[in-house]
Amino acid sequence: MSSLTVSEQHTEAPSAPATAKVIQPAWVRTLHWINAFAMVLMIMSGWQIYNASPLFDFFSFSSSITLGGWLGGALLWHFAAMWILMVNGLIYLALGFSTGRFRKKLLPITPEGVIADTKAALTGKLAHDDLTKYNYVQKLLYAGVIVIGVVIVLSGLSIWKPVQLQWLTALFGGYDIARYVHFICMALIVAFMVVHVALALLVPKSLRAMIIGR
Ligand code: HEM
Repeated sequence: MSSLTVSEQHTEAPSAPATAKVIQPAWVRTLHWINAFAMVLMIMSGWQIYNASPLFDFFSFSSSITLGGWLGGALLWHFAAMWILMVNGLIYLALGFSTGRFRKKLLPITPEGVIADTKAALTGKLAHDDLTKYNYVQKLLYAGVIVIGVVIVLSGLSIWKPVQLQWLTALFGGYDIARYVHFICMALIVAFMVVHVALALLVPKSLRAMIIGR
């Protein structure tokens, strides 16, 4: 699969060939879409699992947006997609650290930078010219969702194997709290996805780049 690129025009030499600037390497795009696929399966099956014994009496998910049909079916989907999510996530973390991408793209994150870019975004002044550079709000949200992804996997493992992994369950403050942590992480991931997809649609260049690589 080719890498994600943007063309740069040579203003002083129009006849020279355009050079290509990598926005997201092929491995990032591939792992991103596998993750998106696994996440959707995990979320929809998780909602079906929730419905079998809701954490909040007043709220359950419509069966039209759940996966698995019943508790047993949903657990099978959840544990099947879990392997895709975990293997894909481990490769992503390993490559993110070893290639220096996390350090280069997501750091530093400064409070001043986040405040300035939030103000710029709210007043419509945030520049989108260079898609290879993340603004501070993006950096914070992308780093944050990676951390939430790790916490949802760890809390999921702790409620899946509370006897074998009792140290992990204890770290979360016990089974019941781990279940709430797992649910809250899901809600944060869903909120992130809504904003992420909305912004990708609002900045058409970034969506085109993510899907077809140009
Ligand atoms: C390694 C990853 C994961 C494991 C091992 C795991 C495991 C589990 C288990 C065992 C349950 C059942 C809890 C119960 O019986 O009350 C559950 C519920 C649930 N999971 Fe996961 N999960 C993982 C990842 C995820 C992800 C990535 C999401 C969504 C982004 C998710 C969303 C949910 C939801 C919404 C529920 C229902 C919450 C509840 O009512 O307790 N899970 N998960």
